[in-house]
Amino acid sequence: MSPFLVTRTLPEDATDAALRADVLHGLTRTPKTLPPKWFYDAHGSELFEKITELPEYYPTRAEREILVARAAEIARATGARTLVELGSGSSDKTRHLLDELPDLHTYVPVDVSESALTQAGQALIAERPSLAVHALIADFTSGLALPGTPGPRLVAFLGGTIGNLLPDERATFLASVRSLLSPGDALLLGTDLVKDESVLVAAYDDAAGVTAAFNKNVLTVVNRELGAGFDPDDFAHVALWDPEREWIEMRLRALAPLTVKVPALDLAVDFADGEEMRTEVSAKFREEGVRGELAAAGLELTHWWMDEEGRFALSLSVAR
Ligand code: SAH
Ligand code: AVI
Repeated sequence: MSPFLVTRTLPEDATDAALRADVLHGLTRTPKTLPPKWFYDAHGSELFEKITELPEYYPTRAEREILVARAAEIARATGARTLVELGSGSSDKTRHLLDELPDLHTYVPVDVSESALTQAGQALIAERPSLAVHALIADFTSGLALPGTPGPRLVAFLGGTIGNLLPDERATFLASVRSLLSPGDALLLGTDLVKDESVLVAAYDDAAGVTAAFNKNVLTVVNRELGAGFDPDDFAHVALWDPEREWIEMRLRALAPLTVKVPALDLAVDFADGEEMRTEVSAKFREEGVRGELAAAGLELTHWWMDEEGRFALSLSVAR
């Protein structure tokens, strides 16, 4: 069987230090915020997989439709020998791409979720004995370094996860992706598109309450890692569309006046009745915006593919 390597690029205490810094910063500012990368412990990763199967959550199905239709074209356009996937999660949709890349030497899934990476990696090498998998437990927003695998390199960033970064974070992130590429290497980027508000809000506030549980999971992570005293039942899940910034915002709204202790930070945080804390933005895009953001990072958009209903886009861009 082919090799399955897992590399942790950050020591575990660095993850802990990053969580402490994010919680301290986010809970002591106004309005309060927590960054979305902390949703994804093992339970959060499972909840995200459940979200992808919800009737209201169309992005996964729409992106899969595009990948199935375009994988061979992507393979011809890139000739990729290394596929790096950022925020790979279960690598489920990626299988459509892996099946069509004839010259692929190594697949490098990158994720903060160790459980998602090891489950996906082990399943992949069992299914595809000739594929080398080198998984990286890493934060794709900070100092990512890749193993020395053969080019051409294709970096995939699927699911619309780029929309979970704020605009200035996106610009920094795209520039750092460009710095990982040699001229001629490519980026395959999934972006959810601007559409009717009712469709968007339903996708982030599903009837079964799975997204609400996913949102509240960040409180469980902070409780477990920092000994905090959040009771998830003290908060309501909120999803709203911001038409100016064209993003969905997920928040947690305090249902009563509360004081929450975070012993690891020696902190007591007051929430007013009804106070809302932002836990995620999920930006929605238009073609010209994506083209411009890529160009600013030195990436030239060469292909733009949408699903039949025009809900989601995959773009291919080339490093110049
Ligand atoms: N690409 C998959 C999963 C999307 S969910 C899909 O399209 O279905 C977002 C994934 O990104 C999760 O697996 C999460 O753990 C990972 N993630 C979120 N923020 C991250 C970060 N800063 N660095 C690395 N991985 C991150
Ligand atoms: C991973 N990311 C693209 C998802 C999204 O749609 O923004 C995360 C998510 N949040 C709520 N539902 C799904």
